[in-house]
Amino acid sequence: MSFKKEKYCIVKKAVSKELCNFLENYLLLKRQCSKTLFDTKQISPYCVDYGKWSDEQIPNTYNCYSDMAMETLLLKFKPTIEKITNFKLSESYSYIRIYKKGDILKRHKDRNECEVSTTLNIGGDNWPIYLSPYENVGVPDNKKITVASKAKGVKINLDVGDMLIYLGCELEHWRNKFNGQDCLQSFFHYNIEKKGIVKFDSRLHVGLPSYTKRK
Ligand SMILES: [Fe+2]
Repeated sequence: MSFKKEKYCIVKKAVSKELCNFLENYLLLKRQCSKTLFDTKQISPYCVDYGKWSDEQIPNTYNCYSDMAMETLLLKFKPTIEKITNFKLSESYSYIRIYKKGDILKRHKDRNECEVSTTLNIGGDNWPIYLSPYENVGVPDNKKITVASKAKGVKINLDVGDMLIYLGCELEHWRNKFNGQDCLQSFFHYNIEKKGIVKFDSRLHVGLPSYTKRK
């Protein structure tokens, strides 16, 4: 399948099972430490250095902007994603969530800093993501993809280590109600290099926390 035509692409085994297993344990431990530190009031309720427990899209679910390990992967993945998309890219930011039972990711497009978005399945229970990729481009002729209807979208199942790359500002995407226990996903966002581009999501460089943004 062609990224240029479909505006998305699945990279099987983008990360080894061993590394995913390490990252899963690392993130679960980080979440546990975050909970303890907040519960025992050893960090301020406004501290984001150990992650947060809500965001606008998914309330009461653990998330972390710019985890250092994920930011390292953000840098590492760039050449591969440039090759697949045929775009010259600039790193924007990484983000993780450990989704919980009952979560729903509403149908949406990503913000401007996420022109090329990816989601990597790190572990936990499988949870399909849906894309509505044919908006403005008509019905594709790739018979391997089952498209029930535009409203229903394309269902994508990622195994542990698989990564979905898609045009985050163009393709609507969502996940229906999650019936598993945990689902660990990491998101890596890039912008297409062009004049006036905002790099690193308004931070000085990759790896810095959200409070260093210059706007
Ligand atoms: Fe999104």
